[in-house]
Amino acid sequence: MTISSATKPLTVSFLQTPLKGKINVPGDKSISHRALMFAALATGESHITGLLEGEDVMQTAAAMQALGAKPTRIAEGEWHVVGKGIGQLTEPDDVLNMGNSGTSARLLSGILASHGFLSIMTGDGSLRKRPMNRVTIPLSETGACFATRHAGKLPMAIMGTSKATPIGYRLPVASAQVKSAILLAGLNAHGITWVEEPVATRDHTENMLRHFGVKVLVEDLPEGGKKISLKGPVTLQGKDIKVPGDPSSATFMLVAASMIQGSEVCIENVGLNPLRTGAFEVLKWMGIDLQILNERVEGGEPVGDLMIKAGALKAVDVPASHAPSMIDEYPILSIAAAYAEGITRFRGLEELRVKESDRFTSIVEMLRGNGVQVDIEGDDLIIHGTAGNIPGGGVVSTHMDHRLAMSASILGLVAQKGIKVDDVTFIRTSFPNYFPLMNALGAKFDV
Ligand code: S3P
Repeated sequence: MTISSATKPLTVSFLQTPLKGKINVPGDKSISHRALMFAALATGESHITGLLEGEDVMQTAAAMQALGAKPTRIAEGEWHVVGKGIGQLTEPDDVLNMGNSGTSARLLSGILASHGFLSIMTGDGSLRKRPMNRVTIPLSETGACFATRHAGKLPMAIMGTSKATPIGYRLPVASAQVKSAILLAGLNAHGITWVEEPVATRDHTENMLRHFGVKVLVEDLPEGGKKISLKGPVTLQGKDIKVPGDPSSATFMLVAASMIQGSEVCIENVGLNPLRTGAFEVLKWMGIDLQILNERVEGGEPVGDLMIKAGALKAVDVPASHAPSMIDEYPILSIAAAYAEGITRFRGLEELRVKESDRFTSIVEMLRGNGVQVDIEGDDLIIHGTAGNIPGGGVVSTHMDHRLAMSASILGLVAQKGIKVDDVTFIRTSFPNYFPLMNALGAKFDV
């Protein structure tokens, strides 16, 4: 895949008119990655609908193809995958480039740990700054060897083993990517692989492995959190997978509509996995009229339609225990907090420092640069709400981070003097039709 490196700046003006309409956001990014990976590991064929065709997921598709599986695009969001079977992926003849995608890099590291060949993995300037040692340290216990750049950074070489030892690991950080990497290595290891997580994180890996016929045991730990185990080697059977709309993508529209007076927006077919919807709860705590309609279960995941109306937002105090269920939503929720009345506190945000950018710092820069007072206490972010009067007028640096770019664009719509965004190209990694959809609701982005 050739990726243009040209930057695309954007100037956003204060929007005087409401957002209105009914839309569907693209497929869930986490579920889309897993659908392609697990279909490649399955015996037989799988059919996927609603797949997110953002650049991150396309990196996963390209990697699975380079490893011998056959993912084929049939129509928009509709893919057919001929699987190779567990342990049957084949050595790639070139470097695997994961682009901007941490989920691709970390989950694939687990899969490659229990395949007996050499792979070399790299990524773009953002991914090459992110820690891979959170997966390489536990995965080395399988017998696989990892050679990374200093401090566990990409590029890295992985010498996997076809005789992987099953491992047991208690996560030192709340990370679904690390949990998933270990479980995926265990699919081709003889014996029981287990992971303990002190706080529950998104469980799409567990749900989808079950959907492919794998027995996954999940137990509640007496002190809180979960223990997940499986016995390898396993067989995955090719399946049909329906990917729901991404709740993380939907949150951008929800926050925009909640702040722009007179707005009324419906987003259909959004994933409602409770380990992903912390931001919806927080918006309700902030006083927003958010209704969930037509709740149902599709492909093993809860799904529904969201109806939101603009209203007055009030400050909120979000405990650290809430962070895993809304970890990707802090950049956009920080805009809601800046717009709200009162002082908002987001607690325990250390994990934000190792996302596509150091989001902790990026959020502080974005808000301070547009006249919003922000204080920092340890890993807590304290945002002084402006009661609807964000001054704006600044330039936001997005640091190759899609969620920063989308959050900044929405900040511009509600900031008195508008704002400038240095580069919106990375939005293509997770939400390729973001601007057309926002403009269909009435956002008037000049892109
Ligand atoms: C993801 C897990 C989260 C999240 C990321 C997707 C996943 O990362 O931020 O966007 O699909 O497992 P961490 O595991 O680093 O928390």
